[in-house]
Order: sequence, then structure tokens, then C-alpha cells
Amino acid sequence: MRTLVYLAHPRPDRSEINAPMFEAARGIEGITCVDLYGEYPSFEMNVDREQQRITEHDAIVFLHPLYWYSVPALLREWQDLVLEHGFAYGHSGHALDGKVTFNAVTCGAAAEAYTPEGANGAHLRTLLMPFEKTADLCRMRYLAPFALFGAGRAVEEGRDKSHLAEWRSLLKALRDDTLDITAARAALSLNGFTAAGAAKLEAV
Ligand SMILES: Cc1cc2nc3c(=O)[nH]c(=O)nc-3n(C[C@H](O)[C@H](O)[C@H](O)COP(=O)(O)O)c2cc1C
Repeated sequence: MRTLVYLAHPRPDRSEINAPMFEAARGIEGITCVDLYGEYPSFEMNVDREQQRITEHDAIVFLHPLYWYSVPALLREWQDLVLEHGFAYGHSGHALDGKVTFNAVTCGAAAEAYTPEGANGAHLRTLLMPFEKTADLCRMRYLAPFALFGAGRAVEEGRDKSHLAEWRSLLKALRDDTLDITAARAALSLNGFTAAGAAKLEAV
């Protein structure tokens, strides 16, 4: 699949996880990488260019930290302006039909917080429902989120390397059409879906 990764991070210079994930994606042949804040520091979105970009790809990945249970503001701006009626949805809006999309998210809180019993009272996939419903409206195929929890402690705890390895293998699987899309749509999380991810889960 022609795969596009959008990074939405307002301060990549301070990012411990998203910036290395973006760099890792840039190092993979055949993956298109766009730094949204880098391209639009004043929020002056080029809607035609973005619509062209997503039209030319089969998988659209949003790489971002979780901010207030949602995405950084420029990604919301992107949604508001790029996903136009008549382009992305509506009777004559079929540009995104069948495309695959998911959120690659880093969260400050620990994994236990993102459970029905935990502090946030719901799984991350449930909290990201606006993104899933937007994808549904645009007739896209929404996959479970790929997540790193406890992101602020990942580097000191040495969890960043395995996450990066799993991220690389996930992007390659998308690119090479080897990801089980049906299972990825049904799951709570994309973590563990590739060989690198499965090995990591087994080691825990
Ligand atoms: C404005 C802001 C809002 C945040 N909101 C949340 C949140 O709702 N849930 C959460 O788990 N972490 C939240 N965090 C923590 C970030 O998700 C975390 O710092 C980030 O994922 C770390 O990745 P980075 O090093 O690439 O920036 C927030 C951080 C900031 C700065």
C-alpha cells in the first residue's frame, strides 16, 4: 500500500518518541512522510496539496502525542479543512473510499489508565472514537491505534527501542500489504500485530 505518515507534534525538538518515530519512518523506502507543523507553522493549510497527497496514498497514518484525549490542534485543523464535503464524504465525496487509516499515538499515562477499570475509564480505541467515526463517514477502513503508554518514561526505562522496531515493522507490513487488515480493524490495539511486536509481547 502507498503509505503516508503525517506527524502532528508542535515541538518535535522536545519530543522523545514522536520525533524518533518520524525519523524512523523517513528511513523506510516507499513511505511518504509529512511534518504538519513543519509545513504549516502558521496553520495556513494548503488544502489542495493535502487532498492531492491523501488521494495518492492507500494508507494514511497519523503520528502524534495524545493531547487532552485528542490530537494536537493542527491535526484537527487538517481534518476541518481537508476532509471537505464532496471530496471526503457526502453523496459525491468518494476520494477516500477504502483507504486504511489509524492513529499512532504516544500517551503520557500508563497502559493501566487506559482500561474500563483504570483512571481514564476506557480503552484508548474508545477514547479515539471521533477519529474512527470520521473515518467511517469518509468510508475509510479504520484500524486499531498503535500506542506507546507511559511515553515520558519510555527512554529511561529502555522501552523506546522496541517500540521503534515494532513501528518500523508495522509500516513495512502496511507498505508490503502483509498486515491482516480485517484483524487490525477488529482489535483494541495494533501493538503485537507484526513479528517484532509479537516477540516483544512474548518477552513481557
Ligand atoms: C498539552 C498536553 C496535553 C496532554 N494530554 C495528555 C492526555 O490527555 N493523556 C495522556 O496520557 N498524556 C497527555 N499528555 C502527555 C503526552 O501525550 C506525552 O508528553 C507525549 O506523548 C510524549 O511524546 P513526545 O516525547 O514525542 O512528545 C499531554 C501533554 C501535553 C503537553
